[in-house]
Amino acid sequence: MTDFNLKVSNKLNFVDVELEQIKENNLYRKLRDVKVNNAYITIKNKRLLNLCSNDYLGIPITKIKINQMQSSSRLVSGNDEIYKKLEDKLSKHKSKQASLVYPTGYMANLGVITTIAKKGDLILSDELNHASIIESCRLSGAKILVYKHNDIEDLTKKLNQHGKNKLIITEGIFSMDGDFSKLKEITDVSERSNAITVLDDAHGDFTVGTDGRGTPNHFNVTKKIDIYISSLSKGLGSFGGYVSSQNNVIDLCINKSKSFIYTSALPSFLIQYSLNRMQINREKQRKKLARNTSILTNGLKQLGYQINSKTHIIPIVIGNEKIAMDFGKFLLKKGVFAQPIRYPTVPKNKARLRISVTAWLSKKNIDDALNIFEQAQKKFKI
Ligand SMILES: Cc1ncc(COP(=O)(O)O)c(C=O)c1O
Repeated sequence: MTDFNLKVSNKLNFVDVELEQIKENNLYRKLRDVKVNNAYITIKNKRLLNLCSNDYLGIPITKIKINQMQSSSRLVSGNDEIYKKLEDKLSKHKSKQASLVYPTGYMANLGVITTIAKKGDLILSDELNHASIIESCRLSGAKILVYKHNDIEDLTKKLNQHGKNKLIITEGIFSMDGDFSKLKEITDVSERSNAITVLDDAHGDFTVGTDGRGTPNHFNVTKKIDIYISSLSKGLGSFGGYVSSQNNVIDLCINKSKSFIYTSALPSFLIQYSLNRMQINREKQRKKLARNTSILTNGLKQLGYQINSKTHIIPIVIGNEKIAMDFGKFLLKKGVFAQPIRYPTVPKNKARLRISVTAWLSKKNIDDALNIFEQAQKKFKI
């Protein structure tokens, strides 16, 4: 951190106390200076294999001209026509009437959930849902019932409680466990109780389903998803977030969602960038991602790691936070960069190494990584 020998204020001493507590619990995080180069990451001149990127498809950078830099709210400064082009394309991609781009996926969750849900409504939320969903549900004022992860019986039971509108909110591919949600069963239950199904498919969008249409396509339930929320910053390798739904929902979001109205729009060149990337045929990359996922998953299983994920997010659950950190440090020393994930991102004592596979990796990269995981297994016996 920068330190210009500037004086600090005693009024903020409590901050040190909090930081100390975080450190004592092995939960301290700090930013690490790295240089990212596709399959590799460089830290202090040491080149490491990059196993923690969400740029799953590894589509090479596409060139754009940065000649437009809109920097105000779209309602105030006028709506650049490039937005309409991207939103039309996203609507087609999701087979929905309309779409709306937000600055990030986080802000899309915040904007959409607080627009649709309100006091008197009932939200059923999977216990492993992303922090942005949890935060948005709390802000909405609706009653929240958290159901056990992917547990249809628990969900069905909790749906019996009263709510003016009932919303079921789940992820498509869970970001820290890498498992699919039981979308077929969830949409069946939802239909039976006339609930609104809201899906955050940040990790399934562009990566799974025919033409990368996401988890609903993978499970053949596209028509049953009422509100689809996603990120442009993962599978598409661009930046931003969006929602696709029916016209009136998008209309209400434009009129009501604060994270759309009271913030600057993404600059037009980023919208153009997403649009360009949507026009690229991504099939080859998707196949490579599936191949890499299969080689790495099978290789890790053969080494004795317990892997339950069937997707490109592969967690190695370790439990203890300190051991997870030591495991990560060992990998780093040997040449693999993958993040240990701890509380509050995952529950306490469920610390894990989150591996994310990308199409950037070659077969040789994966073999090298497996070699290092073999050494780690001998040392840590996980
Ligand atoms: C499930 C899920 N939803 C939403 C987000 C937020 O997306 P963005 O990075 O575009 O803000 C993430 C990001 O990690 C995520 O994992």
